[in-house]
Order: sequence, then C-alpha cells, then structure tokens
Amino acid sequence: MTITATRLTKRFGDKTAVDGVEFEVGEGEFFVLVGPSGCGKTTTLRMIAGLESIDDGELRMNSVVVNETRPRDRDIAMVFQDYAIFPHLSVRENIAYGLRSRRVATSVIKQKVPEAAATFRIDHLLRRKPRQLSGGERQRVALARALVRDAQAYLYDEPLSNLDAQLRHQAREDILALHQRQRKPTVYVTHDQSEAMSMADRMAVMRGGRIEQVGTPRELYENPVSAFVAFFIGTPSINLFEATLRADADDVWLEAPAFSLRLPPTTASAVAGRVGGPVTVGIRPEDLHPPRQAPFDVGEHNKFTARVELIEPTTAGSTVYLTVPGPEGDLDIAAGFTARLPDRFAGEQVPLAVDLGKVHLFDPVTERSLLLGAGAA
Ligand SMILES: Nc1ncnc2c1ncn2[C@@H]1O[C@H](COP(=O)(O)OP(=O)(O)OP(=O)(O)O)[C@@H](O)[C@H]1O
Ligand SMILES: [Mg+2]
Repeated sequence: MTITATRLTKRFGDKTAVDGVEFEVGEGEFFVLVGPSGCGKTTTLRMIAGLESIDDGELRMNSVVVNETRPRDRDIAMVFQDYAIFPHLSVRENIAYGLRSRRVATSVIKQKVPEAAATFRIDHLLRRKPRQLSGGERQRVALARALVRDAQAYLYDEPLSNLDAQLRHQAREDILALHQRQRKPTVYVTHDQSEAMSMADRMAVMRGGRIEQVGTPRELYENPVSAFVAFFIGTPSINLFEATLRADADDVWLEAPAFSLRLPPTTASAVAGRVGGPVTVGIRPEDLHPPRQAPFDVGEHNKFTARVELIEPTTAGSTVYLTVPGPEGDLDIAAGFTARLPDRFAGEQVPLAVDLGKVHLFDPVTERSLLLGAGAA
C-alpha cells in the first residue's frame, strides 16, 4: 500500500486550511507531518481518513483515487488528537469497539484486546471506565483501540501530547515497534520537531496550509530550503541574523553590525550576484566552537566575540547562550559546545569560531535558501 496526495486542498469558508499539499507515503513508510498549531496537520490527516471532504486535488491509495471513498472502505486506523474514547464503555470495550463493529470473531477479540492493552501497558485497567483513568492512561487506551486491528494504513494525530517525558519516550518506541511488525504506511502528526526527527523515515514541514519541505530528518536538518524550516528544526534553534554581503578584491564577506565573516569560495560564488544587498545568515549552535577546539583553522575571518549569559550543561557538553551588542539591540546567540564550559565564564567575553562551510544563507524577503539549487524548493 502507498498513499499519494496530489495538490490536496481543503477550504473552510474563505479560509484555505490545506493548500495544495503533495506527498507520497511509501509501502511500510513512517511519514511525519510537523508544523506549528493551525498549519493544517489535522485537516490533512482527516482528508486521508475520509472524515473531511476534499475540495481539490487527489488522494490515492495504491494508484486508486479514493476522494469519494467512504472512511470505512478505506480501511484506515486513526488515533485522534482528542482521543475520542467512549466514556460509558470500559477500557476493554473501548479497545474491542473497532473489532466488534467490523464483526471480528469473539474468540479473536478475546485474544487481541489484552495483547493491544499489554503493548501500551494498560492491561491492568481493562475493567475501568475512562473517567477512572489519568489523561496519559486515556491516551494509551486511544492508541490501543486504534492499533488493535489490522488496517491498510495508520494515522496518528499528536497521540503523545498528554504523556510525561518518560511515558512519551516509551510510547514512541511502542508505536515504532508496532510499525515494524505491521509495515503499513503511516502518517504521524506532531508539532514537536524532536519527536518528528526521532521517529520519521521522511517528514514534511507544514506552514500555513502548505508544505515547506519534504525529506528525511537529516536532509531537512542539513539542507533546509527556507529560514522557516531551518528555524523549526533543531534544538536549540539555529541562530538567524541579518547581514550585508560585501566584496573586496578576493573575497565575499558577511557584514554584521559587530563582526564580519569571510565566506568560503563555493558559498561566495553562489551569492556573488547579491553583493551590496542584505542576507539572512543561519548558523547552527554546533557550528560555533571555542577557537582552540575548532576542527578547522581559526583566524580573524571566521571568528567573533560574544558575552556569555547562561551556561546549560548537556549530555554532549554545554549549550551556551551569548549576546553580541548591536546598534538595534543585542543579537542572541546559542552555541553547542562539546565540552563543559566552566561557570567562571559567565558574564565574560569569549571568542566563537564559526564553521563557515556549514553556514546557511537565506533571502531576507522570500526566506528561501540562496545556497540550494532551484530544484530544491
Ligand atoms: N471545521 C472547521 N471549520 C473552520 N475552520 C477549521 C475547521 N477545522 C480546522 N479549521 C481551521 O483550519 C486551520 C487548520 O486547522 P488544523 O486543525 O488542521 O490545524 P493543526 O495543524 O492540526 O493545528 P494543531 O497543532 O493546533 O492541532 C486552522 O486555521 C483552523 O482554525
Ligand atoms: Mg491538530
């Protein structure tokens, strides 16, 4: 089974909630839709499930157009954002519900319900009613209920938002393990980029009803097509700031108010036509290094100074929050160091070496990347 969306569009009155969305979910693929609140994730999922009519474009399962196919005949299991479990039914009956309505044999139901409950660690709660459960337990009932039956495809709408960090981690693994067994196309919605990054085979970043970019987590992280994607993906977020492109006889420079950086030749040639104009610069925190630990030569052309505001210990070393004073206020910078920066550096001016081979440049107006080919958009 594959799911293909072509120019999928949904309007509510004069608001276009989903605007020409395109993607393909391959056989056995775990595909994640991620984006900020209101960008159209749930609406997209509901169109796939058949719960929302499609105003424009096509939805195919395998190569068959299913725009008009009833939800039931699409044979898709869905976990809803608000879990939608029945308050008057016990946990056992909630989980059994989808099987009963499909007239699955009682002997099969007797076997499958406890299995699904065990997968999500709620097998001790089968007799309870939803009101006797915590939010996290209800969420796991919703997961078990949707996943208990064999469907052609699986849809998840932010299924883990109510779980604490540890349960969420566990539930992610349970969902992925189940997916490994079923190997059915899956569309998983979340607004949490780190969840998307850790779970997706491929993912789509949505914004305002459109898809900004589709790719593997690594592709989106390393080659974001826009400042929006660059900023949305990665924690702490990429550092974005404005600079002017300046050229001298040999080189092209990024002129920020408090420092200048010399672009490597390939980057310089990509933006040669924009010299004299503004550019949005993106530097990932991990591409900033203490000069002596930088894995490249450091000179005056790839270094600037910033004041340490806060040092946060991490598993990798430390995240350091710094500021660079500028005419229009301070520029806030986050740096991810692979070593622990001692606390005595708080409040001090420190040099930061920039890995300019990894710098991202965007058009300040369109926000599109200036370094990726035209085909990448
Ligand atoms: N039934 C509806 N009637 C009118 N507008 C709607 C309806 N459903 C959704 N919308 C609007 O469509 C847009 C997309 O909504 P949707 O629920 O798909 O967003 P979402 O990405 O799932 O957001 P969230 O992360 O908050 O769940 C929003 O602006 C929303 O207000
Ligand atoms: Mg939603």
